[in-house]
Amino acid sequence: MKYVLIGCGRVAPSHVKAALANGLSVAALCDLDPEKARALARRFDITPAVYTDYREMLRAEKPDFAAIATVSGTHAEIAVDCANAGVNFLVEKPLAMSVEDADRVLSAAETNGVTGGVCHQNRFNEAVQALKNAVDHGRFGRLSHGAVCVRWHRGPDYYAQDAWRGKWATDGGTLMNQCIHGIDLLLWLMGGDAETVYGATRNLQHPTIEGEDVGTAVLTFASGAVATVEGSVNLPADFEETLCLFGENGAVRLGGMCVNEVVDWYFTDGEAADADRRAVREQVGSVYGNGHTSLYLDFLNALAEHRAPYVTLEAGKRAVEIVLAIYKSQKTGLPVTLPLTGFGSADMADVSVKR
Ligand SMILES: NC(=O)c1ccc[n+]([C@@H]2O[C@H](COP(=O)([O-])OP(=O)(O)OC[C@H]3O[C@@H](n4cnc5c(N)ncnc54)[C@H](O)[C@@H]3O)[C@@H](O)[C@H]2O)c1
Repeated sequence: MKYVLIGCGRVAPSHVKAALANGLSVAALCDLDPEKARALARRFDITPAVYTDYREMLRAEKPDFAAIATVSGTHAEIAVDCANAGVNFLVEKPLAMSVEDADRVLSAAETNGVTGGVCHQNRFNEAVQALKNAVDHGRFGRLSHGAVCVRWHRGPDYYAQDAWRGKWATDGGTLMNQCIHGIDLLLWLMGGDAETVYGATRNLQHPTIEGEDVGTAVLTFASGAVATVEGSVNLPADFEETLCLFGENGAVRLGGMCVNEVVDWYFTDGEAADADRRAVREQVGSVYGNGHTSLYLDFLNALAEHRAPYVTLEAGKRAVEIVLAIYKSQKTGLPVTLPLTGFGSADMADVSVKR
C-alpha cells in the first residue's frame, strides 16, 4: 500500500503518526512550501520524496492512498483530482466549502471506483463509541433532543498564522472549522434525518476575520427530535467540547476538551457495565484527540474488505450541509429546509456578521 500526504501543516503530524502506527511507510509528502514537508520528514525521521505539486506527485508516485490535509478551500478540488487519478483518499474536514463541491467529490469517487473518507476522527473516541453503542442498542427509547457545544479559544495570533484562516472562501468561521466535528456526531447519533435548520451567527471579537466567531442553531429531525448547536472561539481559554443526548430512557453528557470523557451516564435499564462507561476519561494531547490512528486503521480495513469506511463522503457532506444551512439562515433570517442546494461558504461574502 503506497501512501502519500498532501499538506504538511499543523494537522499533518497526526496523519504521519497514524500512518506509521498502522504500518504504512510514507512514500511522499507534498506541500506548496517544500521546507514544511522536509521539516515533517525530519520530525518523524523518515525519508519520503518531497513534492510541491500534488498532481505531479500523483502522476509520478501512483499512490494507492492519499491523505489530504491542505487548506479547507482546496479539499474538494484535490479530492476530485485524486479520484480521477484512481487514488483512494482520506480528506480532512470540511469535505468541501459548498454542497455542489461535496457532490463533485462524491460523484468523482463513484465514477472512478475509488474509496473516499473524511477525518471526523472524534467518532472513534472511547466515550463516543460507548454512546453510539447505547444508541444502537435502543437504550434511549425515543430520542428527545441533543446538544453540541464547542467552547474554545482562538485568539488573533491563531488567525494571523495563515491568510486562509477565517475567510469565507477558504475556511469559513468557527462552525465550519471547529464545530463541524460536533455537528457530524450529532447527525450520526440522532439518525441523520435533519429536516430544518435555523441559525444565528456573529463575529464579536475577531475583527481581522470574515467568518463567525460564535454560531448557534436549532435543528429539527424527521423523527420529531430536536437539537441545538453552539460553537465559539470567543472564550478566554479552551473550555470544553460537550455533547448531550436525551431520550425517554437515557441521559448522557460527554465532555472534556474534545468529547473524550463521560460526564453523565444514566439509563433506566442500568447495566453492570455502566459503571465502567461512567469512568471513561481518555487522555488527549490536544483538541485533535487520538482518533486519526483508528480512522486510518478503519480506512485501510475498508480498502482491504471492499467496504465503505466508517466516516463516508456522504457523512462529510451532511455535516458541511448543516453548517451551510446555518450560514444561509443567518443570511436570510429564515429557517432553511433540507436538502440544501446551490449554497456555499463563499455566498456569505456579501454578509457581515460583525457587530
Ligand atoms: N481533524 C482535525 O481535528 C483537524 C485539526 C486541524 C486541522 N484540520 C483541517 O486540516 C486542514 C489543514 O489545517 P492545518 O491547521 O494543518 O493548516 P496549515 O495551514 O497549518 O497547513 C495546511 C498546509 O497545506 C499546504 N497547502 C495548501 N494548498 C496546497 C496545495 N494545493 N498543495 C499542497 N499543499 C498545499 C499549505 O502550504 C500548508 O502547509 C484544514 O482543512 C483544517 O480544517 C483538521
